[in-house]
Amino acid sequence: MSAPLRVGVVGLGIGRAHVWAYQQLPGEFEVVAVCDTDPARAAFVRSRQNVPRTCGGFDELIAIDSRDVVSVCTPPHLHLEQCRAALATGRHVVCEKPLVGSLADVDTLADAERSSAGRLMPIFQYRFGAGIQKLRHLVARGVTGRAYLSTVETAWSRSGDYYAAPWRGRWDTERGGVLLSHATHAHDLLSFIVGPVASVYARTTTRVNPIETEDCAAAALEMTDGSVATSSATLGSHVEISRLRFCFENLTAESSLAPYAPGAEPWTFTARDDVAQEAIDETLAGFDPGSEGYVGQFARFAAALAEGTELPVTLADARASLELVTALYHSSETGLPASLPLGTDHPKYRSWLPDR
Ligand SMILES: NC(=O)c1ccc[n+]([C@@H]2O[C@H](COP(=O)([O-])OP(=O)(O)OC[C@H]3O[C@@H](n4cnc5c(N)ncnc54)[C@H](O)[C@@H]3O)[C@@H](O)[C@H]2O)c1
Repeated sequence: MSAPLRVGVVGLGIGRAHVWAYQQLPGEFEVVAVCDTDPARAAFVRSRQNVPRTCGGFDELIAIDSRDVVSVCTPPHLHLEQCRAALATGRHVVCEKPLVGSLADVDTLADAERSSAGRLMPIFQYRFGAGIQKLRHLVARGVTGRAYLSTVETAWSRSGDYYAAPWRGRWDTERGGVLLSHATHAHDLLSFIVGPVASVYARTTTRVNPIETEDCAAAALEMTDGSVATSSATLGSHVEISRLRFCFENLTAESSLAPYAPGAEPWTFTARDDVAQEAIDETLAGFDPGSEGYVGQFARFAAALAEGTELPVTLADARASLELVTALYHSSETGLPASLPLGTDHPKYRSWLPDR
């Protein structure tokens, strides 16, 4: 068995969850350093999560020898340069969503990955919930039949404390609002199950908080398989829920309402008839959905690196998610539907930020 991969984590908000998840996999990973420009945060994580070393700046982190993996958990406007710099040293990179702030930037990162010995894995940890893994297994085995209608809802609550972090709620630093930062999870799960999006019509507005970016959105989507979907998203829901509902030919699949575990159990699969029920039961008997959340994504990451296989979340997945974001913003801004894929000559290819 090879030695654990040595990990450095930069950005210690959600980065603390990365540290914890790597530490659940001691055979695969060893967190050797954490980095944050806020020394108190770095010192807190060092002592509470038992990490040997802290660094005050990113350059210091990637100057240390022998970091095999860098987990980038800083605010979105820093992702592109930090991912590029880490890839340039030959390290593997794990990067939080949203990966970068435009389709052009994703393509720049893809070039950087191609010329590096390291590989880049974007985060979409909700894919590894046991419920959504079961549904994906049923789809892959042809048990669900054709998709008809999918409904995804992201009804969360964000207010003043959340926006106290100066990078949030601003186009230049967060790069988007509820569509980019929050509904992105539900949209990734939609495509994980039903496949790519063909066209969108979206309306967005800012009504909940005094911020630049949108905090409410509604969208109608047509998928490339011909099925249709709706997405609604707000940061002003006093009851927080995430809900995913997929109506297929042979079954209807529903998530729980848990806001921050949309892929996790309990999910319900209601069969069209007894024959469909038997197919579901047979297909799921003995199916092991694997570990969940960040631990699930990191465990699969380690296995893919060891075996040289496709990463559990790919740059193409992140690109698809950001292409959808671009189309949603474009539709909302023009008041017209937007068709995907978007070419490099699309007016929003270099930036989806509003024309101001
Ligand atoms: N996948 C998820 O479920 C999930 C959840 C929360 C956040 N996120 C994403 O994670 C990223 C960070 O969000 P957050 O909520 O943790 O933000 P945060 O503001 O809580 O934490 C960011 C940290 O980065 C540090 N930082 C800023 N600039 C730095 C630099 N140049 N070098 C080193 N450290 C620096 C800050 O001091 C801060 O501690 C965002 O992209 C966000 O969308 C993902």
